[in-house]
Amino acid sequence: MDLHSHAREQVLPLPVVLISTISKDGIRNIAPYSNFTPILRPLDHIILASWIKRDTLNNIRETKDFVVNIPPASMVNEVMICSRHYPPEIDEFEKAGLKSHDSKEISVPGIAGSLAWMECKMVEEIVREKYSLIIGSVVRLEADDLFFQPNGTMDYAKANPLSVMLGSDSMEFTYPVFCGRSARYEEMFEKE
Ligand SMILES: Cc1cc2nc3c(=O)[nH]c(=O)nc-3n(C[C@H](O)[C@H](O)[C@H](O)COP(=O)(O)O)c2cc1C
Repeated sequence: MDLHSHAREQVLPLPVVLISTISKDGIRNIAPYSNFTPILRPLDHIILASWIKRDTLNNIRETKDFVVNIPPASMVNEVMICSRHYPPEIDEFEKAGLKSHDSKEISVPGIAGSLAWMECKMVEEIVREKYSLIIGSVVRLEADDLFFQPNGTMDYAKANPLSVMLGSDSMEFTYPVFCGRSARYEEMFEKE
């Protein structure tokens, strides 16, 4: 079957992150974003695709600072509250009943209860007619020790980082499940 452009995003599992920002007047804002990805490894830069009509985009333009919060699946109701279109003067931490988590390198706070907090500074904006691509430099990445194994690997089965499959009528929220195969990085460089 050929999928027309409005149905194409259904084939991809997408991450769900919460972007926290502050306006120039000091109002705290939160919005979920799925069009988000690291730019290769190591994780020093990320890219975020935003429609132009977003308080998040206005705030990032004003202050350059933002936190990419990684929510657990248990935060899904708060995610949906933050997806509503509140006017810019509304504090979305208060609206969603979320508490702040102090950042160290930037002025914007993260969200308490997240699995990890990427403190970012915008380094470049690529503007198109209807959307904008924000490239951010990750100046600090803090993660909750609770979800890490002693060898330094994240226990994703315990952490349940939130992701989403977009359907034709609804969004189905998901989290990762082991498919039965692990691979050492060296396998990529092995000769046949
Ligand atoms: C799961 C999910 C993912 C979303 N991803 C994006 C995205 O990648 N880019 C975007 O511009 N809006 C995205 N949205 C919509 C915004 O979160 C929504 O419009 C929000 O109200 C924007 O808030 P703001 O105006 O306070 O920034 C997404 C919404 C949901 C529920």
